[in-house]
Amino acid sequence: MESLEAYWSEGFPLVEGWVDTRLLECLRMIDSIQRDAGITGQIGEIGVYHGKLLIALAHLADAGEKVTAIDVFDDQARNLDGAGIGSLDRLQDNIRRFGPTERDYAFIKADSIALTPADKTKLHESRGPFRLFSVDGCHTAEHTCTDLLTAQDCLGSGGVIILDDYMQPHWPGVTEAVNLFYARYVPRVKPFLYCSHKLFFVGYGWHGEFERACSGRLGPRHNVKATEMFGSRVVSIYP
Ligand SMILES: C[S@@+](CC[C@H](N)C(=O)[O-])C[C@H]1O[C@@H](n2cnc3c(N)ncnc32)[C@H](O)[C@@H]1O
Repeated sequence: MESLEAYWSEGFPLVEGWVDTRLLECLRMIDSIQRDAGITGQIGEIGVYHGKLLIALAHLADAGEKVTAIDVFDDQARNLDGAGIGSLDRLQDNIRRFGPTERDYAFIKADSIALTPADKTKLHESRGPFRLFSVDGCHTAEHTCTDLLTAQDCLGSGGVIILDDYMQPHWPGVTEAVNLFYARYVPRVKPFLYCSHKLFFVGYGWHGEFERACSGRLGPRHNVKATEMFGSRVVSIYP
């Protein structure tokens, strides 16, 4: 499919997965903020399932850019919370049907919590630095916190981490993970946007610009509120 909008209306409903249709506006908004600021980089996701979000992110990339999918795939003994049984065949089939073809795809079968510093360096050097990195793998606090650290280590300047299931009552480990991330580590990213149970983070130096841009582009709406999380201003869209 040629565009994100065509995928969203025709392919997206046919791909199994858990992505709120209202996310489209935020994805477009982040992409346009990054493009206006001249921010470049690659696309990545931990926890891909059948590619519902990854294909959308791939549509935001330019021809030839790298799109990296990290999942346990058929090694489901490592999928400790059983949130979606990843399938490489289904993912590749969906990319063939609905994804942009002229991208440089890589499919890395890995247990994300077991990635070593050397693995992360290789990921960053061979597939990054990342402009958009989605974290949606195993939802335990330990897995999610580790995945956030991986995303942070591989992020480019002005790159955005998209964390799924924050404050989603079915997956409390994700919320616990962000608490751990800010209490135990020295994060180099700050949250700036919350919508559809996804929390978006960007590097410290970019935070003000992203938060102001989101606030300005969304404008006054009954479901948009300026709030604060972990000491940072966040534009929250709810419900
Ligand atoms: C909720 S699904 C992801 C949904 C997907 N982002 C979408 O757009 O529909 C979670 C995925 O994480 C994968 N996963 C679970 N544990 C993992 C681990 N330890 N390392 C890497 N991937 C894992 C599962 O195989 C599954 O595909």
